[in-house]
Amino acid sequence: MTATKGLEGIVAATSSISSIHDGVLAYRGINIDELAERASFEETAYLLWYGKLPNQAELGRLQRQFSDYAAVPDAVLEQMKLYPQTANTMAVLRTAVSALALYDENANDNSRENNQLKAIKLQTQIPTLIAGFARIRQGQEPVAPLKDVSIAHNFLYMLTGVEPDPIAVRALDQALVLHADHELNASTFSARVTIATLSDIYSGVTSAIGTLKGPLHGGANEAVMNMLAEIVTLEQAEPYIQKKLANKEKIMGFGHRVYKNGDPRAKHLQNMSRQLSILQGDSTLYDISVKVEQLVTGQKGLKPNVDFYSASVYTMLGIPRDLFTPIFAISRLSGWTAHILEQLEDNRLIRPRAEYTGVTNQKYVPIELR
Ligand code: ACO
Repeated sequence: MTATKGLEGIVAATSSISSIHDGVLAYRGINIDELAERASFEETAYLLWYGKLPNQAELGRLQRQFSDYAAVPDAVLEQMKLYPQTANTMAVLRTAVSALALYDENANDNSRENNQLKAIKLQTQIPTLIAGFARIRQGQEPVAPLKDVSIAHNFLYMLTGVEPDPIAVRALDQALVLHADHELNASTFSARVTIATLSDIYSGVTSAIGTLKGPLHGGANEAVMNMLAEIVTLEQAEPYIQKKLANKEKIMGFGHRVYKNGDPRAKHLQNMSRQLSILQGDSTLYDISVKVEQLVTGQKGLKPNVDFYSASVYTMLGIPRDLFTPIFAISRLSGWTAHILEQLEDNRLIRPRAEYTGVTNQKYVPIELR
């Protein structure tokens, strides 16, 4: 038995949800470029869950369900008031999603129908939790969700209590489409491992949130913004990056396990970042980002991944830095739950082997002789 470090190149599941072939990402066979330009996040979530684009009536029904279930139990919001205000937002989300299960009497029912409903509820409640905590930690009351608006619109509204700018809503909606699913990425894999024990959907999503949190995965978008903020001016970009590369430090937002010739999602986010910088009349952040890309790609051959330009996009939308990874979770929840449903359709426990590298033939030594 020989292990493959990081399971690189190992095909660990079959799936009909999303694919990466020759650098092209598709959800249910539809190129992400087309979805990014034309689909809403609601249509995308429907596509991932049900395997086809919704017609008008199906989309209307899903939107009504999102409106009906967007409020979270008061008890969960009250608990959030007891969390430390400085707590890590992904740890808060992980805890609050786990708490939601306590107030769902069907939490442990793994029928397809019930799990689909729970996926819809989680999709609309996670933005409420994140926006709620963002307000609670500032000493403000959470803002109740609106009816009949998109997930992106509702999230931006619940952060401030003010109707969001339609351009901001469109930008966030497109970012949600782009992050929705990505084959067997680390967090989706952990969701599948968890549900494959016949645990429950909340446990699967909680595992996935914990996995997304890390800076080698979803946590990279916040780390990118930390870096851009440290650079401050365009002139400082070159010495800053040279120093990091000389110290053999990783540059967050670059590189990918699967894409070696560039992440197809990055160009959409770059485009959005450029457009927002023009609209705001301040291109500093965009210009620094482009300079960092030129330096890192030029010297290391590494291309930006989905996280790189999302950092400047979210910043220009006025979103606090530590909500970037929770926003990723809002989007990827659709993919996680689609994979959980798919895993349960034809389930088998996921239990690989390890290549043992420790000592062998040791004898037990009684404690008084050690
Ligand atoms: N900056 C500098 N060097 C890098 C970077 C980077 N961002 N990414 C990879 N490298 C280098 C490594 O140092 C390594 O070099 P070496 O062979 O000389 O030691 C080589 O490229 C291979 O890198 P690995 O880390 O082994 O590649 P792996 O496939 O395991 O990791 C990963 C992929 C985690 C994305 C990596 O590129 C990385 O750490 N990037 C930065 C974090 C990041 O942006 N994560 C988000 C990924 S996208 C997502 O999850 C949504």
